[in-house]
Amino acid sequence: MRTRPLKVALLGCGVVGSEVARIMTTHADDLAARIGAPVELAGVAVRRPDRVREGIPAELITTDATALVKRGDLDVVVEVIGGIEPARSLIATAFEHGASVVSANKALLAQDGAALHAAAEEHGKDLYYEAAVAGAIPLIRPLRESLAGDKVNRVLGIVNGTTNFILDKMDTTGAGYQEALDEATALGYAEADPTADVEGFDAAAKAAILAGIAFHTRVRLDDVYREGMTEVTAADFASAKEMGCTIKLLAICERAADGASVTARVHPAMIPLTHPLASVRGAYNAVFVESDAAGQLMFYGPGAGGAPTASAVLGDLVAVCRNRLNGATGPGESAYAALPVSPMGEVVTRYHISLDVADKPGVLAQVATVFAEHGVSIDTVRQQGKDGEASLVVVTHRASDAALVGTVEALRNLDTVRGVASIMRVEGE
Ligand SMILES: NC(=O)c1ccc[n+]([C@@H]2O[C@H](COP(=O)([O-])OP(=O)(O)OC[C@H]3O[C@@H](n4cnc5c(N)ncnc54)[C@H](OP(=O)(O)O)[C@@H]3O)[C@@H](O)[C@H]2O)c1
Repeated sequence: MRTRPLKVALLGCGVVGSEVARIMTTHADDLAARIGAPVELAGVAVRRPDRVREGIPAELITTDATALVKRGDLDVVVEVIGGIEPARSLIATAFEHGASVVSANKALLAQDGAALHAAAEEHGKDLYYEAAVAGAIPLIRPLRESLAGDKVNRVLGIVNGTTNFILDKMDTTGAGYQEALDEATALGYAEADPTADVEGFDAAAKAAILAGIAFHTRVRLDDVYREGMTEVTAADFASAKEMGCTIKLLAICERAADGASVTARVHPAMIPLTHPLASVRGAYNAVFVESDAAGQLMFYGPGAGGAPTASAVLGDLVAVCRNRLNGATGPGESAYAALPVSPMGEVVTRYHISLDVADKPGVLAQVATVFAEHGVSIDTVRQQGKDGEASLVVVTHRASDAALVGTVEALRNLDTVRGVASIMRVEGE
């Protein structure tokens, strides 16, 4: 074993960073044996230097992250600050000064992944970010390396623990959205401002990263269609149950049937209770991958939390350190396929539409005509009526999102349709 240590700087020492430092210290001998050289924590950049950081010598703490990454003797910079700046500049500076980078920063990778990969390549360094998608769950490396010889057609995932916790609560207790959110907040599963989670921004960033790797194509954050889950109601869950389904916030990355384009989207959807993703409870994450040769694969585990996320960061750290010792780099960005990313209107799926209608003869025929006029074929219709009002639940066969949008617009214009109570896509069949 080499005796000269590999030097690692830690940018950020919060929920994830403190666990990275702890594991680096407590597992130092095992890490050294696995890497082939000891790993030394050379500096820790934080915002508040006076906070007590258990197990971290005070002389390693600095508020000058830029000076730390410019030292010139670092082998690896671990970025666990989060957000776009200063993380982006610090990573670029780390490459310029000879270090490889491990990051957990989904927001930055989704927004600037291409430029960061280009910078890593220009300087002959590694950029690894297993922890950026679904915390502890090995996903980036399986997609990038284990499945490098296969053709991935679909990635269907529950990649946000907060929203899965809320939806699971609604499903199992009959609670409404607000009540379930309040419980998630009280238990620490939701942040004080839950927007990034409940509006699907966090999942959309992960979808962009996953689609890019799965389809060897650059997928920008703007390419990902996004709908949050704040409008999901107890009534939607009741309808889902009648169909043998539950509701999940899904990130869906798909190759079109002709293979010539891809799509990426995040929205709540009904999935059959028989689908493996339906049994993902609480704050857990899971990603279901479909490929030509392997068939169906499921990756499951804790998608967040200090120690689980640090596990993924440490896995990257070991890989990057091994590469350093071998004078090599691991796989970089693979975007050679450069497939076009289609807009949401071209996505083809099934829909569950709940309408409030007048309870009188001929309504069903009128509604059915609108569907037919827009080329959307109906699979089942369920009608319930009382006091002159009725609800009509229509489940369609597969149709394009554009056709569905046109259908709903026309339905809203019918005198007999009082309102469109909900529209939910049906996935995973
Ligand atoms: N938490 C999770 O479960 C989880 C899961 C997957 C991925 N991630 C990702 O991991 C990253 C870190 O998340 P986290 O939850 O650990 O965040 P966090 O608890 O808020 O920690 C952020 C750390 O960065 C430091 N920091 C902030 N601005 C800084 C600056 N300008 N210069 C130097 N240090 C600065 C903070 O310093 P102070 O300690 O002094 O405030 C803190 O130590 C994010 O990209 C996040 O998306 C987190």
